[in-house]
Amino acid sequence: MLPESDTLPPMTAPAGLPLTMRRATPADRDAVLAISAHYENNWLPYVIDGVLRDRRGGLYVAEWREDDRPGRVVAVAHAAVKGDEAWLEAMRVDPGFVGRGVATALTVWMMERCRENGCRWVGLATEVTNAPVHRLIGGRLGFREMGRWVWFDDISDFEAFSTELGPDAAPDAPPGAGPDAAPDAAPDAPPGAGPDAAPDAARVSRGSPEDVPEVWDFLNGRKAAGLVRPEGLVGQAVSPWRLEKLTRARLSRHARAGRLFVSRERPGGAGTPVDGFALLSLFPKSSFVPGGPGWASLFYLEGDAPATGALLAAVLREIRACGRIGVLILSLPGTQAKRLPAVTRSGWPPGGQAMEAVIYQKDLGESLPE
Ligand SMILES: CC(C)(COP(=O)(O)OP(=O)(O)OC[C@H]1O[C@@H](n2cnc3c(N)ncnc32)[C@H](O)[C@@H]1OP(=O)(O)O)[C@@H](O)C(=O)NCCC(=O)NCCS
Repeated sequence: MLPESDTLPPMTAPAGLPLTMRRATPADRDAVLAISAHYENNWLPYVIDGVLRDRRGGLYVAEWREDDRPGRVVAVAHAAVKGDEAWLEAMRVDPGFVGRGVATALTVWMMERCRENGCRWVGLATEVTNAPVHRLIGGRLGFREMGRWVWFDDISDFEAFSTELGPDAAPDAPPGAGPDAAPDAAPDAPPGAGPDAAPDAARVSRGSPEDVPEVWDFLNGRKAAGLVRPEGLVGQAVSPWRLEKLTRARLSRHARAGRLFVSRERPGGAGTPVDGFALLSLFPKSSFVPGGPGWASLFYLEGDAPATGALLAAVLREIRACGRIGVLILSLPGTQAKRLPAVTRSGWPPGGQAMEAVIYQKDLGESLPE
């Protein structure tokens, strides 16, 4: 049983600021939302009721209290805790109080709470352009940069591959496979060419728990070769915006739930080398609009071409077969996001929607800043 950190007394900031840090209560709701509304990417209103109930992690606030005046909530942040890992998110400081050390004090205090609650490490994802957070987290608080993560949001165009397969696009195509030929008449076409049919799509099958040892070895081989960065993370199946550790147990759970797709060098079962895998979850009913279209989340993809093209083709076919999916979200390690254009038609995933974040991590066994 974990200690209930809300039974702990509130704590005064060590830096001599007139700050008290404590767990947020429903009475803080309006103050918290007012702070959050000052900033773009204001998603806290959608989740605040859930995070206010979160007892494993928690929504925390910093209250500024000078002299005898009533305290004023000036900052908020959420620690999302799963297993022994904590992710800090939704850190927001009242614009009238920025630059005074409030975020630093609240972050250190939250890391202490996470450590007391049994967490071994804490992570944070922030946009590559967010200079203050890079200074705070990567600089003063000594988090380690693990790499970049990329999300492509709201993809509604499910034709990832070129439909114009002609002599120019496929120099090795046999005679007769000109612009008028059916796409599947070009057996040597490059991977990813042809509408939703990478030529070797047969190499992809839905993974089962029996596939997990080979997939795990494949992933570890990629990590050892320096091909995966950040290492060892994955999107969450129901919430691709949140990351968690990609453990073997989690991979097995995804396989049992039918979310694992495996590419092998040649069609065939175990014993045929694995050369890629993907994790996909489908939500045929909208999570946001009653009766609205469902959504899909491709929350991991690993491998080089041609495996990546075949996996993507298989995943998109699955989405179309479901018939009720309106949008797709991609959540990928930066290393894999860079490989994607090599197997898709140009401009896919549609540009302008990507968000690239730097992933930071700190081991809570290390000493924390004063
Ligand atoms: C980012 C944010 C949390 C920082 O809060 P804060 O209370 O001002 O932070 P602190 O005073 O503790 O300062 C932290 C560091 O950021 C630096 N910083 C603060 N504002 C900055 C700015 N506009 N540009 C560059 N650096 C800045 C500070 O100088 C300090 O670095 P230093 O110790 O090397 O001097 C706050 O600006 C905010 O709420 N931003 C909008 C929401 C957001 O981006 N949240 C983070 C999501 S991951």
